[in-house]
Amino acid sequence: MNLVDANIIVTGAGSGFGRSMSIYFASQGANVFAIDINENSLNSLQDEDSRIQIFTCDLVNNETVEEVIDEIFSINKGINVLINNAGIMKNAPLVNLLQRPDSRHSIDLWNQVIDVNLNAVFYMSRSVVNRMIRNRNKGVIVNVSSIAARGNAGQTAYAATKAAVEAMSKVWAKELGVFGIRSVTVAPGFINTIGAHDALEEKMLANWVDKTPLKRTGEVSEIVSSIEFIIQNDFFNGETINVNGGLVI
Ligand SMILES: NC(=O)c1ccc[n+]([C@@H]2O[C@H](COP(=O)([O-])OP(=O)(O)OC[C@H]3O[C@@H](n4cnc5c(N)ncnc54)[C@H](O)[C@@H]3O)[C@@H](O)[C@H]2O)c1
Repeated sequence: MNLVDANIIVTGAGSGFGRSMSIYFASQGANVFAIDINENSLNSLQDEDSRIQIFTCDLVNNETVEEVIDEIFSINKGINVLINNAGIMKNAPLVNLLQRPDSRHSIDLWNQVIDVNLNAVFYMSRSVVNRMIRNRNKGVIVNVSSIAARGNAGQTAYAATKAAVEAMSKVWAKELGVFGIRSVTVAPGFINTIGAHDALEEKMLANWVDKTPLKRTGEVSEIVSSIEFIIQNDFFNGETINVNGGLVI
């Protein structure tokens, strides 16, 4: 698919990967429908390019997801790319003996991560794909997973959501190919975003960098270019692109 005149929904467009890809894809001629929970960051994003339209939405609520997708399709029936990028990075071991009075992984934290990183991807995808099929729009669903899907210690909830997203992506590749809709995952390693630096202690990050053959974290542009490849290569389907500097081979 050509980026010129592609109609792309990006979730989590307010910062990090989502913001950079929205600006880049718009600069390449795509129409970008940018969704985020953070209205302020969306407002500044809209100023970047007139091809970007912004939509404030908390994706953990299926009703508001339906409303925003209705609105987007009423503006443009030809949506052909959905990028499920919004996510929260939270860390907690299953049992933390230093944590009192309850050393067990918080159920609230578990539910919060499942809601944003897994349920929201499901809500968005079923809603968008249903309309794509009815409108006979061919295209691609891009799901942003993580190296954590392979089982990072200290990330029970986060790892579970990302592994589940990779599994759903494979299911959708098999189910939706007949409609001309591909489904692909990108699994970044440690990439320089505010979200990653907020989520990870610098000591932990330095440790991961040390284990990475390229001895550095990745740059946001390296994730954006992977997603550009996914959109442009119409025979690429059902796979996960690992972009982690060789940390896991
Ligand atoms: N940065 C990394 O090193 C890294 C590595 C692997 C995977 N990832 C994944 O990449 C994606 C983007 O990461 P990032 O580093 O750009 O993060 P980020 O925190 O910079 O951006 C995430 C965006 O998602 C939005 N968001 C969060 N909850 C939302 C909700 N309920 N509804 C709507 N929007 C919501 C936030 O407001 C934010 O703008 C995430 O799914 C993350 O898990 C990041």
